[in-house]
Amino acid sequence: MVNLDCPPPPGEEAQGKSEGWNDMQHPKSIEAAFAPSFGDYAPYTRGVRVDRRAGLVDTLENLLSGGQREKILTATLAAAGLEPNGRLLDVGCGTGKLAIAAAQIVGSQGKVTGIDATPGMITRARANARDSNSTARFYVEIGEKLPFTDASMTAVTSSYFFHHLPGDVKERALQEMWRVLMPGGRLVITDYGTPQNLLGHICSFPMRFDYHEYVREQLGGELEELIERQNIGAYELVDSFLGYINVIRIQK
Ligand SMILES: C[S@@+](CC[C@H](N)C(=O)[O-])C[C@H]1O[C@@H](n2cnc3c(N)ncnc32)[C@H](O)[C@@H]1O
Repeated sequence: MVNLDCPPPPGEEAQGKSEGWNDMQHPKSIEAAFAPSFGDYAPYTRGVRVDRRAGLVDTLENLLSGGQREKILTATLAAAGLEPNGRLLDVGCGTGKLAIAAAQIVGSQGKVTGIDATPGMITRARANARDSNSTARFYVEIGEKLPFTDASMTAVTSSYFFHHLPGDVKERALQEMWRVLMPGGRLVITDYGTPQNLLGHICSFPMRFDYHEYVREQLGGELEELIERQNIGAYELVDSFLGYINVIRIQK
């Protein structure tokens, strides 16, 4: 899918922490036009894309979660309570691990879609899907402007996605994820968040120095506040890893 999203509104280019390749965000830029390896254009977002480290994200994430990445993805998927025939959207899907596992659960009658703002990630996710004969589909899109109709998903998940977004974009992404979820569906957000115990305070301590994207704000309960402000229902802490990588669920 070629995404011909509009260029950033005036003034927005200077904001946020988007890493490198910002020229790729304008679909008409020379670089975008001559970047066949990416396949898709990168849509504009103030979220932090991972163009230059797409191949490293899985490893880095595993290190940052004390080797528990697989367990965390499994817990996220379990919290979504998927059933055969289900329709799941994974936002900020990265290399597609969760979506590919979800596709096995929903079977041929269901549908699983992953979206990510980084074209290189989608290239990897599609290759992984091909290698594992998966029916999961992957597109370059942004979480804050989802190209899906209202109430079209039985579950929406995201893992390690929200900390890539500045606060106001987190809010828009949350609204969008809620909009596409059908009544009775589950929204599952797994990310760095409020420390739950002493271990969580210790493990999250380095993040307080703001070295990693927009994590620091989340350590102070930003995601929970956002959910409360949106008035979209009570959230439930389903699981926690290292005391601060939290799996939160809200049922619509
Ligand atoms: C740390 S990775 C997590 C990948 C995967 N969910 C996982 O758990 O392994 C965060 C992903 O969010 C994506 N991202 C950043 N801003 C985004 C946006 N506005 N919309 C969609 N994806 C975005 C990045 O490209 C990156 O692939």
